[in-house]
Amino acid sequence: MSTKKKVLLFLEKNKDKNVSGGFLSRELGVSRTAIWKAINSLKEEGYEIISHPNSGYSLSKSNDMLLVEAIEPLLENKVPLFLYDKVDSTNRAAASIINENIVQGTTIVAKEQTHGRGRRGRSFYSPQKTGLYMSIILKPKFDMDKSVLITTGASVAVSKAIEKVCNVQTKIKWVNDIYYDEKKICGILTEAITNIETGQISHIIIGIGVNCFTEDFPYEAGKLAGSIMGNFSRNKLAAEIINQVLNIVSSLSASNFIKYYREHSMVIGKDILVFKSLSEEGIPALAKDIDNNGSLIVEYQDGKKETLSSGEITIRV
Ligand code: BTN
Repeated sequence: MSTKKKVLLFLEKNKDKNVSGGFLSRELGVSRTAIWKAINSLKEEGYEIISHPNSGYSLSKSNDMLLVEAIEPLLENKVPLFLYDKVDSTNRAAASIINENIVQGTTIVAKEQTHGRGRRGRSFYSPQKTGLYMSIILKPKFDMDKSVLITTGASVAVSKAIEKVCNVQTKIKWVNDIYYDEKKICGILTEAITNIETGQISHIIIGIGVNCFTEDFPYEAGKLAGSIMGNFSRNKLAAEIINQVLNIVSSLSASNFIKYYREHSMVIGKDILVFKSLSEEGIPALAKDIDNNGSLIVEYQDGKKETLSSGEITIRV
């Protein structure tokens, strides 16, 4: 690892402290001149490093750089991790590296997406410097009838990770939008790769976009979208999301997470509109419950009940 990377990592891990040039030089085993050069070079690259007279350097708290070296040590299972400055979509990038030997949990993270994709052909606003955009590749080891639980399980995993790292209380809007303070702060796009010969799902890509520190959204997204602000590290959030997702899929069973999902639901007990297709008008209904397959049980105004699976239906609370 280059001295510059080592210095950056050290400052990132010690964000709240001032670290002297002498200390850095002893810890990293390089000369003070090399440290000084590395600091200058990092500043030129745009890293906000504060030089404190007499007491050394610190990384500005607002400077939350994504770094593989800061994510990897926090992973419970070592998985291949790729961090890109800019991609069109991490889900697409993930699909392009899938082969027979890909390791379960291989993750692509990007600092920026030029064509972040959302569900139903929507786009996902993915500016640089803020936000967390990542895709986790799974090789389904569970029975296919359980694959419907992936969507529900992924939202529980991501919600738990956000609560733990960012210290905020989230709500889940069926199926897998995560809300904080009545605004959508995270969207999840789950895509399956099918083996043409067998017709079986060979891989699943869980694409996760979390709005962190983003202040301005494009007009359309802005009506719904919000951000998690505050003092937390996106590296920690990325690692915790990977840990939680892999933990949940390792024994994919509703009993492991459906209670959490129900408790965090922002839909159960609410009057909603059910949209069976984009062109149709919404049908008013009461959201009664979520069953153990992650399906939403609704009751229409004429008293009829229906169990909606995530596929083609959207709802408005
Ligand atoms: C939605 O809210 O409709 C789902 C949004 C999913 C966005 C994430 S960002 C990382 C991954 N790559 C993509 O292109 N999309 C997902």
